[in-house]
Amino acid sequence: MAIPVPEKRIADFENLGFGMFIHWGLYSQLGKGEWIMNLHGIPKEEYSKLINTFTASKFDAHKIARTAKAAGMKYITLTTRHHEGFSLYDTKGLCDYDVMHSPCGRDLIAEYVEACRDEGIVPFFYHTTLDWYQDSFNNDFKGYLQYLRESVKLLCTNYGKIGGLWFDGNWSKPNEDWEEDKLYSLIRNLQPDAMIINNTGLGERGKVGNPYIDSVTFEQGRPTPMNREGMPKYVAAEMCQTLNAHWGIGSIDFNYKSLPSLIENLCACRKVGANYLLNVGPTGEGEILKIQEALLEGIGGWINATGNAIYTGKPCSICSENKNFALKDRDKYYLYIHDLSTIGDSNVIVEGGGTGWKQFSGAKDIGTVKSIKWTDNNESLEFTQDGDILNVNCTGYEYGKNLVVRVAEVIL
Ligand code: GLC
Repeated sequence: MAIPVPEKRIADFENLGFGMFIHWGLYSQLGKGEWIMNLHGIPKEEYSKLINTFTASKFDAHKIARTAKAAGMKYITLTTRHHEGFSLYDTKGLCDYDVMHSPCGRDLIAEYVEACRDEGIVPFFYHTTLDWYQDSFNNDFKGYLQYLRESVKLLCTNYGKIGGLWFDGNWSKPNEDWEEDKLYSLIRNLQPDAMIINNTGLGERGKVGNPYIDSVTFEQGRPTPMNREGMPKYVAAEMCQTLNAHWGIGSIDFNYKSLPSLIENLCACRKVGANYLLNVGPTGEGEILKIQEALLEGIGGWINATGNAIYTGKPCSICSENKNFALKDRDKYYLYIHDLSTIGDSNVIVEGGGTGWKQFSGAKDIGTVKSIKWTDNNESLEFTQDGDILNVNCTGYEYGKNLVVRVAEVIL
């Protein structure tokens, strides 16, 4: 069966490849994650007082967009409203629980969108569908859905062209009719080029659902290859992940992932053609923590050293039996080699193994390989091509370098 051709907005989304997720809201002031209201049972009357201290005094949208850019991220998905129900945008009278009614008094989404445009980053809007603030969510669900649509309409009309909308929360009432068609057709009409994404949550990773949906989600999980044969339309995939164990800032959460594992996660996503949406949780005042910024900067350094195939390279026939993989970018192939060691004096270098001949299969139809070289230093690699099998002698890092995952360009 045929694999459908992606519509332009979906193909463009796949080429963005790597994005920044931002969880920021009233909860950030407490520094204990975005679920604090619910999980610690804080009554709405008490919790909502956080609006009175929300100043966004250190929120510098340009600085955040530059941080994303330095990390090699091409888009940002910001929580315009999370489950707590507070909006970072001007709701134009729809609800008093918004940024205009806080001491901040600025439309932060307007600032965000403008900064993204200035820095060449595509702005996406996360929007909750479940709501702990609106009584109508439990008492008058149809009325609530109308409020939700009016909210989304504001986001689709007041900020110019946006990359897409990222919904989250339908899993909270799995048996309700969310009137998805009404919400999604509204977006399609107002923002024809916007991606429509609905997080299927931890329980149903990779599930497509409504026909309007343009990308599946793999929250906090390794994305698996999508079988698109016979699908009515081509749907992209995206994996979102926390840097530590919380989305909204956890001031006492030191459980950070290592830089090598983040680089490998980016690779694992791109290996199956999925985007990687990596989260930061700014402080209550709106500033990204130094430790988070530093990890992102490290990933940007890796992308700079290894090249752009990580964005536009696509999964292809060449494969291996371990973490190593290949991407095809136009007329070239790129091999992503893991676990190499550094070469040099055995009194200085810890033996790591990992260098030497690596085998790939699926090379039968790619044409005759002329040469293979590392992208970071242009060193040519020995190889043999025999029918379906491509063997490459992968040298280790020269002393002074270690890229975690090293990239070789295959020239035909
Ligand atoms: C979950 C959580 C939410 C978070 C989201 C990000 O659905 O409810 O807090 O925003 O995952 O993927």
